[in-house]
Amino acid sequence: MSTLTLSRSTFRSLRVQPPSSSVRFYSQPVPLPLPRSVDHSRPRESSAAEVVWSLEQEGGDDRVLSFKDRKILLNGVELSPTHLRDHCRCSECFHPVTHQRLLDTYAIPKDIHPTRMGLKEGGLEVVWSTSHTSFYSNHLLKKLSPPTQPIPLISPTKILWTPSTSLTTFPNSLPASSLTSSPSALLQALRTIDSQGVLFLTGVDATTEATEAVCRILGRGKLRNTHYDEFWDFTADMKMGDLAYSNEPLRPHTDTTYFSSPCGLQIFHLLSHPSPPGTGGHTLLVDGFSCASQLRSAHPVSYQILRDTKRQAHAAGSEGFLYRTEKGWGVFEEGEEGRLESVRWNGEDRSVFSGGSVEEVERWYEAVRDWEGILRKKENEKWVKLTGGVVCVIDNHRVMHGRSAFTGERRMCGAYIDRDEWRSHLAVLEKEERRGLKGVDELDY
Ligand SMILES: [Fe+2]
Ligand SMILES: [Zn+2]
Repeated sequence: MSTLTLSRSTFRSLRVQPPSSSVRFYSQPVPLPLPRSVDHSRPRESSAAEVVWSLEQEGGDDRVLSFKDRKILLNGVELSPTHLRDHCRCSECFHPVTHQRLLDTYAIPKDIHPTRMGLKEGGLEVVWSTSHTSFYSNHLLKKLSPPTQPIPLISPTKILWTPSTSLTTFPNSLPASSLTSSPSALLQALRTIDSQGVLFLTGVDATTEATEAVCRILGRGKLRNTHYDEFWDFTADMKMGDLAYSNEPLRPHTDTTYFSSPCGLQIFHLLSHPSPPGTGGHTLLVDGFSCASQLRSAHPVSYQILRDTKRQAHAAGSEGFLYRTEKGWGVFEEGEEGRLESVRWNGEDRSVFSGGSVEEVERWYEAVRDWEGILRKKENEKWVKLTGGVVCVIDNHRVMHGRSAFTGERRMCGAYIDRDEWRSHLAVLEKEERRGLKGVDELDY
């Protein structure tokens, strides 16, 4: 629960600037310097005095909000008035049902500024120089404000695999039957994929029908339709012109790097591989986020080169299909705040690229050597022998997969789910959980 407190002891504990004669203190949480009731028709200019509030944010994140000389500051960092005005969530500015912006951003005056501010339950009310009144919940303020600490490359929500992480006993497993038992069980499954990059669903009949049913539950009915079709069922018969359809070993890679948006989840199920006479065919899984983090620590320049150098990829082995990304992509894709969002790596599918200077090209190959060297470290390789009955789900934007060579008839089936679809599915279930816990929907989009 967010609280708004204002007292001298709070300032001391938060190490806020020592009181000066221009700072006014109040012993109660009160909306100041505004009058409690806001007169929309005649907004009054506030005094130039600095007013400081401490905001104890959700999750125990203490922040200090201050208002001085018409400026709004969070932890001493000024917030852009245009940015704040653009994110007003009142029903005039933001459609309460469609959650789309109604406000015409272009119409925000360049010199917009707050004329009055006050704390209200759960957030901040601002009266703008245009007479419009906006309310910003603490949650929204937190989303709008710049990070207070350096953003780590890997989100704290991700659990990186370590040398002692063992997947051989399927620790990340759940009974597939739990997926339909309750929304919270389904949420747990999607959260496991999100945090660990892999999930094994047990107790699935070794049939295409049972596997497809599991895939559709995760994808909320939707599977990604590609040149392999929505659902694939294959043996090493080279029916499709791709090494996946051979019995060759495959080095760790992410799938469909030749699409502008590679598939989000890859789901596969070994239907049969009688052994003997069949041999080999072990599945290799590598945590791309852990390896990227290791690369950045050990070889920061190589990390940067692979992130920033764009390479195209293609799929040209199947009659009637010629996929090639319109533009190149780096191996690592970071979000706005510099957090790793995606690993895209498949050496087999990498296309021709025009070279730069010898030094540049050689340096790129050196970065690849550093990267592949980390991928091939024994402690980063997790080998799993899949069996019928266990469906393996991996986050294709994080976890790389490969396999050892094999003999004998090995029949696999599975499907892809779009990244946007499974992320949406996870977000919806999380929103429903929040609503159940707090009774509110936080408008952070
Ligand atoms: Fe693959
Ligand atoms: Zn508004």
